[in-house]
Amino acid sequence: MQTIFSGIQPSGSVTLGNYIGAMKQFVELQNEYNCFYCIVDQHAITVPQEAKKLRENIKSLAALYLAIGLDPEKATLFIQSEVPAHAQAGWMLQCVSYIGELERMTQFKDKSQGKEAVVAGLLTYPPLMAGDILLYNADLVPVGEDQKQHIELTRDLADRFNKKYREIFTIPDARIPKEGARIMSLQDPTKKMSKSDPNPKAFISLLDEPKQIEKKIKSAVTDSEGIVKFDKENKPGISNLLTIYSNFSHKTIKEIEELYEGKGYGEFKADLAKVVLNEIRPIQERYYDFINSSKLDEILDEGAERANKIASKTVKKMENAMGLGRKRK
Ligand code: AQP
Repeated sequence: MQTIFSGIQPSGSVTLGNYIGAMKQFVELQNEYNCFYCIVDQHAITVPQEAKKLRENIKSLAALYLAIGLDPEKATLFIQSEVPAHAQAGWMLQCVSYIGELERMTQFKDKSQGKEAVVAGLLTYPPLMAGDILLYNADLVPVGEDQKQHIELTRDLADRFNKKYREIFTIPDARIPKEGARIMSLQDPTKKMSKSDPNPKAFISLLDEPKQIEKKIKSAVTDSEGIVKFDKENKPGISNLLTIYSNFSHKTIKEIEELYEGKGYGEFKADLAKVVLNEIRPIQERYYDFINSSKLDEILDEGAERANKIASKTVKKMENAMGLGRKRK
């Protein structure tokens, strides 16, 4: 059976972008693959986080993993910082990474832009992410399009390590959805939707109240033409909303365009809110059951134990290959 690894940062409230681009795939894949789904809290601290809020976000993300339909019997769910091998592997992989290639990462450029003081972790987080994936010898990594460059770097680092030291790592492939790989901001449809966007109107969180969702969709930036038509270049706002509609309704974009022919954006947006709520409501109901249950901690403890067993073995192999520590008889 092939192995899958993926993670989400607890850097805010999970958005429709995270859900459509990555998490929906997690659920589909758990039946066919050996899956590891991580809450990558060490990645989240590459930008400022308030400690209490971070802890809340970690728990909340764990409950959401379960609420979207992940089954801890099928997939290993765990928190990155509870498996020390991740930081250890991340360090070893930093030592085979070049500063130049890390500086070329688009996410680093975006997140460091305009900042006076940039923490080193923002630059060196891609090798940590490579470690996350390589520790489990993952074959596939389900991600949105924005992570493609990091997966390519992961492949390069794995190959470099294998050639320089010893063949330890499987070279993983990204698994990017055909549609919805890049859901855009509701306020600036040329920018991707992000959970850490300072403007809450720019994203829909899976945990937003129904009224908030209706309001956010109503105020989503479109254009003055009033024609529901997919044209990414000239009509990025309405095209983004059509992508979300299609993803949740299982109708093709063409079918939706036909449905709204001669109708304005008002009616389309009102229906889109219903379609989104239809998908989100049952997730929210399950979420509130899990977030208040002691089962959540048990599941995360078991997940960390399972992950630790595998990851610590890979770390040992890496250390032996690099010549770290002592050889035990
Ligand atoms: N807008 C998006 N459309 C489709 N997929 C997306 N992903 C993120 N945004 C979109 C995918 O979600 C997964 C988890 O992402 P992450 O939490 O590891 O970090 P990110 O990619 O940086 O996501 P955010 O929401 O933009 O977080 P912040 O604001 O903290 O940086 C990944 O598979 C990603 O591709």
